[in-house]
Amino acid sequence: MLPAMKLNGTAAIISGGASGLGAAVARRLAAAGVTAVVADLNEEQGKAVAAETGGLFVKTDVADENSVTAAVEAAVATGAPLRTVVSCAGIGWAARTVGRDGTPHDLAAYRKVIDVNLIGTFNLMRIGAAAIANTEPADADGQRGAVVNTASVAGLEGQTGQVAYSASKGGIIGMTVPAARDLSVIGVRVNTVCPGIIDTPIYGFAPDAEQFKAKLAAPVVFPKRMGTADEFAHLVQALIENDYMNAEVIRFDGGIRFQPK
Ligand SMILES: NC(=O)c1ccc[n+]([C@@H]2O[C@H](COP(=O)([O-])OP(=O)(O)OC[C@H]3O[C@@H](n4cnc5c(N)ncnc54)[C@H](O)[C@@H]3O)[C@@H](O)[C@H]2O)c1
Repeated sequence: MLPAMKLNGTAAIISGGASGLGAAVARRLAAAGVTAVVADLNEEQGKAVAAETGGLFVKTDVADENSVTAAVEAAVATGAPLRTVVSCAGIGWAARTVGRDGTPHDLAAYRKVIDVNLIGTFNLMRIGAAAIANTEPADADGQRGAVVNTASVAGLEGQTGQVAYSASKGGIIGMTVPAARDLSVIGVRVNTVCPGIIDTPIYGFAPDAEQFKAKLAAPVVFPKRMGTADEFAHLVQALIENDYMNAEVIRFDGGIRFQPK
């Protein structure tokens, strides 16, 4: 058997764990014996996921320093060694750099998307990794844990109207290698997943949501459908467990390549 980071009996913190991709990660890790700490703004859904997975919920704004510190402290206080940090919290936004009516992109909206998606991801990674550094090494390599961040294929080839979102995700992609280098001294690996079109509540529940999703997923190569949140979580688990995966940006998209629109 290959050496693999053992998840059973450890703790993980998952931002965005109340919904979609993060909730699927919480479920998978819990099934592997992990105490999953759901760090999310959404109290009702976060508590429900925590109850279902036998973990705990901490109301968290990833962009806020004190809020993330409290969530990581709660993960440490579970008593299980914190080995895993997964960032799934994120928000979407659609607006062009200059709108059809000639109006420049709203700057506050741009800042908000960067704040939640990029700074929020960095905030959890830095505070989570500092806590992981206080644990005993888990193996002979000196490994202590793993970070998985969630970017998007939009960070590589953003579509029209995705300038804020793509910039935020491109920032997550860009920090993967330097973060992996920084955190190597404490035995922490860092990988980033770039999902394509995965069926989650991020696309909303409006009557036209299904139509919108079908249009987005049309260029998927194979299998000809949206991805599922559990397929994403399966990859995240593999990235955590496989000790040699580090500093990598992985497309997870059924082969889709976005066209301009
Ligand atoms: N679903 C997709 O097709 C897709 C594709 C590419 C990338 N992504 C990315 O994956 C991540 C998860 O998306 P999802 O589809 O599961 O969306 P989702 O809307 O189902 O879940 C996102 C979660 O993040 C939480 N959140 C938002 N702002 C927060 C904040 N400031 N602090 C803490 N929690 C916050 C929300 O409450 C929600 O529970 C996002 O970063 C998204 O950009 C999703």
